[in-house]
Amino acid sequence: MTTYAVTGASGQLGRKIVHALLDLHLSPFDVIALARDTDKVEDLAALGVRTRVADYDQPETLEAALEGVDRLVLVSGSEVGKRAAQHQAVIAAAEKAGVQRIAYTSILKADTSTLGLAPEHVSTEQALAASSIETVLLRNSWYTENYTAQIPGYLERGAIIGAAGDAALSTATRDDFAEAAAAAITADDVKPVYELAGTTFTFPELATAISAATGKDVAYTNVTVEELTAGMVAAGMDEGTAGFWASIDASIAQGDLYTESTDLAELIGREPTSLDAAIKAAL
Ligand SMILES: NC(=O)c1ccc[n+]([C@@H]2O[C@H](COP(=O)([O-])OP(=O)(O)OC[C@H]3O[C@@H](n4cnc5c(N)ncnc54)[C@H](OP(=O)(O)O)[C@@H]3O)[C@@H](O)[C@H]2O)c1
Repeated sequence: MTTYAVTGASGQLGRKIVHALLDLHLSPFDVIALARDTDKVEDLAALGVRTRVADYDQPETLEAALEGVDRLVLVSGSEVGKRAAQHQAVIAAAEKAGVQRIAYTSILKADTSTLGLAPEHVSTEQALAASSIETVLLRNSWYTENYTAQIPGYLERGAIIGAAGDAALSTATRDDFAEAAAAAITADDVKPVYELAGTTFTFPELATAISAATGKDVAYTNVTVEELTAGMVAAGMDEGTAGFWASIDASIAQGDLYTESTDLAELIGREPTSLDAAIKAAL
C-alpha cells in the first residue's frame, strides 16, 4: 500500500486535499494529516485519518512525521519570508525518510512571475530539483475565493477598487486545486509541472458578474498602485501590508496571474468551477 501525507492539513487547502484523497476511496489509514497543532485536525482524525505533528520550524518533528510516508503533498506555508527555509527543511526530512514523490503547491508561472511571493516558491522548486525525490510542481494561480470572500465589502461600497485595469487573471477554487493535488499525488504518471487555473476574468467582468448575481450595482474603479496602497492605509492597514497587496494588482496587470493552460481540467477530469458558479456558492 502507498502511504500519503499532506502538510498544512489544518489550513483551508490542506484540509480539502485530505478530503479529496478520501474521496478517491483511499483507506483513511493510508492518509496522514500533518499539522503543527494536531488539535486543529481532530475532525480529520475522526474520519480515521492518522494525524502527526509537523512544524516547518522544528526539523525533528518533520523526520518523525514523514516516517513511512511514500508520497507527500507539501502545501506551501503561510509565513511569508520564512517559507524557503521551512520548505527546505521539509524536503531534507523527506529525503531522509525515503519519500518517493512530493507534490508542491507553487505559484503560477513561478519561474517568470514578478509577484513578490514568487521568489520563495522558486527557491523551493530549486530545492526540490536538487533533491533525489520525484517532484510534481502544482503551480497554483490565485484562489477565486480571494475575490468571492470580499463580496460583502464590494456590495457595501458598490465598488471594486483595484489597480489591474482590464488585465485578465485566471483563478480556481480551493476545492478544484485540492482535487488536482489529490489527483497528482495518486496518479501513476504525472507531468513535472502543472500550471493550474480554471476560470479567467478581468476586474470589470468580476464587477459585472457580481452585479448580475446579486441584482445590486457594483462598478469597477481603477486607481494607481499608489492610490490603492493609500486607500488601504486610510482603512487601517499598515503601509507594508498595503503595499504588498497593491503590488499584486501590478503583477496582475503584467499578466502574471493569467494563463491559457488547461492542466487543471486535465488533472481533475472535468471543467473547473466557473466564476459565476463560485460567486453563487459564496452568496
Ligand atoms: N493561491 C492563492 O491565492 C493563495 C493565497 C494565499 C496563500 N496561498 C498559499 O497556499 C497555502 C495554502 O493556502 P490556504 O488557503 O490553505 O492557507 P491557510 O488556510 O492559511 O493554511 C496555511 C497552512 O500552513 C500551515 N503552516 C503555517 N506555518 C507552518 C509551520 N511553521 N509549520 C507547519 N505548518 C505551518 C498552517 O498551520 P496553522 O493552522 O497551524 O496555522 C496552515 O495549516 C498558503 O499557506 C500559501 O502558501 C495561496
